[in-house]
Amino acid sequence: MLQLRLLMPKGFFITTPIYYVNDRPHLGHASTTIWADVQARFRRRRGEKVFFLTGLDEHGIKVQQAAQRRGVEPLAHCDEMAGHYCDLWKALDIRCDDFIRTTEPRHMKVVQAVLQKLCDTGQLYRKPYRGWYSKSAEQFVTEKDRVEGKWPAHFGEVLELEEENWFFRMSDHQEWLRRYIQENPRWIRPENRRNQILAILDRPLDDLCISRPKARLAWGIPLPFDPEYVTYVWFDALVNYITAPGFGEARFKEWWPTDCHLIAKDILVPHCIYWPTMLHAAGIEQPKCILAHGWWLMGRDKMSKSLGNIVDPRDYAARFGTDAVRYFVCRELLLADDTDFTEERFLARFNADLANDLGNLVNRAISMVHRYRGGVVPATGEPTPADADLAKVARETRDDYHARHMPNVEYGKALEAVWALVTRANRYVDENAPWKLAKDPAAAARLDGVLARLIETIALLGSLLEPFMPSTAAKIAAQLNVPEFPCSDERWVNPAGAGHALGRASPIFPRAVAGEKSAP
Ligand code: MSP
Repeated sequence: MLQLRLLMPKGFFITTPIYYVNDRPHLGHASTTIWADVQARFRRRRGEKVFFLTGLDEHGIKVQQAAQRRGVEPLAHCDEMAGHYCDLWKALDIRCDDFIRTTEPRHMKVVQAVLQKLCDTGQLYRKPYRGWYSKSAEQFVTEKDRVEGKWPAHFGEVLELEEENWFFRMSDHQEWLRRYIQENPRWIRPENRRNQILAILDRPLDDLCISRPKARLAWGIPLPFDPEYVTYVWFDALVNYITAPGFGEARFKEWWPTDCHLIAKDILVPHCIYWPTMLHAAGIEQPKCILAHGWWLMGRDKMSKSLGNIVDPRDYAARFGTDAVRYFVCRELLLADDTDFTEERFLARFNADLANDLGNLVNRAISMVHRYRGGVVPATGEPTPADADLAKVARETRDDYHARHMPNVEYGKALEAVWALVTRANRYVDENAPWKLAKDPAAAARLDGVLARLIETIALLGSLLEPFMPSTAAKIAAQLNVPEFPCSDERWVNPAGAGHALGRASPIFPRAVAGEKSAP
């Protein structure tokens, strides 16, 4: 048994941030979680063992205050918020393998074990501290954080505080961290975020304050070695990434180190400076990659609850269907830059890409097989140059998708390539005009070949799109009358070859008009 465990290959482990429960989730939270879900589905399809972790960050002053405002106990507040998150993940077809909440005993135990280990090895010390404290960021800030003499808006109210606290000797690990980042160029991605962290490391790091006096904040994990304090919420939250895969248990090796911490750029510093130095100090292996995407903006501002400019993904899912939301956030949200969210942009993608390009292709092809061949897929026959070109685009799309775009989490590129294939296939229909071939008895074999190749292309598209749009893929599978799509990697076999009887054709995306409700 032990030997078996040692030989067991490490599974693919992907995480999202654990979200604060002081407010309901919005499109920003949904986007990172959808991105992780797409990666998890892509890997599962390839037969990989996958662990997809998301969850909630339930301690800290903001949660305590949110509960106080509503006149409920903090845990009751967290339970209610957890319900909202779980409902949203279900509505968005998110299939996580674990949903961690930092108030769970399994997590508190691991946080205390890590703290104790760091304390025992001299990595923590207690000292008085006087400084500026941002309530909304829950962190001490320094003069270096001021921009043109002012605190940036996202710090909210900044107060001067003096108190004794526990500190982690983060600065001791600065040189190691800088070297590690330099020696591992793809550890922090994309490149602009990596450079941002390297620039921060050009200046001396302060040690990290990792405690809060219980007198000021009761809602946290007690320090195991000093009853007057609870753990700083970031130190607590980051540890979730090792709690969930079973830190201290035999199964931990099956998952850790994580293959990808997926986050947005707002929490780059805790993930690329606090967390790696904490792990280094505790003698735990580093994550394989930290990947930070950009923000959704509304005009010039970040979409955020505090600015009151959020988009509720449930509204869009109700109007356009879950898959349209999933498609949009994968197609439009950029990795290295911010993206402006507008309803026009959403509608344009929905109508042009989904209803028009993909929807029409699927509907036309399946309907024509019914009309001209009684719903049974004909034989492909000898390829013409036009067929060879379609096949070339399909092969290249498949190869790039598997070898580069998907493993690199470059969803915009993956979908761009998939849509190039959709466009090529639509052009193939127009070039070959099956409706004309159908009128010419001498062209029967050619019509067979065109229809068969279109069905094969649609089956491939279903396979490529499944991680992004699982229910659309299921609809396409039903119309093709195949139980599921085989993985589209080098082992790809067309599940709807000659002689296969198709299901009924029906439109997969109705066109949507601005302001109107559209049935999903
Ligand atoms: N609780 C911390 C994370 C701890 S992880 C150990 C936290 N929570 S949060 O609720 O504020 O979530 C931040 C994350 O939500 C971002 O990193 C991103 O994944 C997502 N987003 C929130 N607003 C966003 C946008 N406007 N745009 C894109 N994603 C955003 O920070």
